[in-house]
Amino acid sequence: MENRLEIDREKIDSIIRTYDANPEALLMTMQDISDIYNYVPPEVIPILIEKLGVKESLVYSVATFYKTISLEPRGKHVVSVCTGTACHVRGAEKIMDALKEKLDIEEGQSTDDLLFTLEAVRCVGCCASGPVITVNKETHGGLDRSGVLKIIDGYEQNAS
Ligand code: FES
Repeated sequence: MENRLEIDREKIDSIIRTYDANPEALLMTMQDISDIYNYVPPEVIPILIEKLGVKESLVYSVATFYKTISLEPRGKHVVSVCTGTACHVRGAEKIMDALKEKLDIEEGQSTDDLLFTLEAVRCVGCCASGPVITVNKETHGGLDRSGVLKIIDGYEQNAS
């Protein structure tokens, strides 16, 4: 993806300092960086290797293992459709299809303007409200096609 962003070196250094550059805090460090950019930019990896003294392979392992951390650019709004059993039974597939159509992307992709990323996730723990999506840290339940489209419209309007 061509949307390269400038990383704020001072912010990165201050996050690293928060955890005393402790290699055991690699996950938390990466999570905090991800909270700023919605992913861990590649430019940050050499800094983590140097400052925390960790191996590059460990950085990649953390990013592979933890779903909340990505090394690929992700949209400002990460839309996660719960595909757990309860939500599946209540129509998660239709919700996913409506989102794919609306955003014109497939699961795992981001819109060109990097406003949205679409993902599938396992049970997010509020099965009684299914089908459920989360947008960043907000949960929306009891959705149907028009409900989910309205939610996306709301985020689009806020962005403009
Ligand atoms: S299955 Fe979707 S919240 Fe549990």
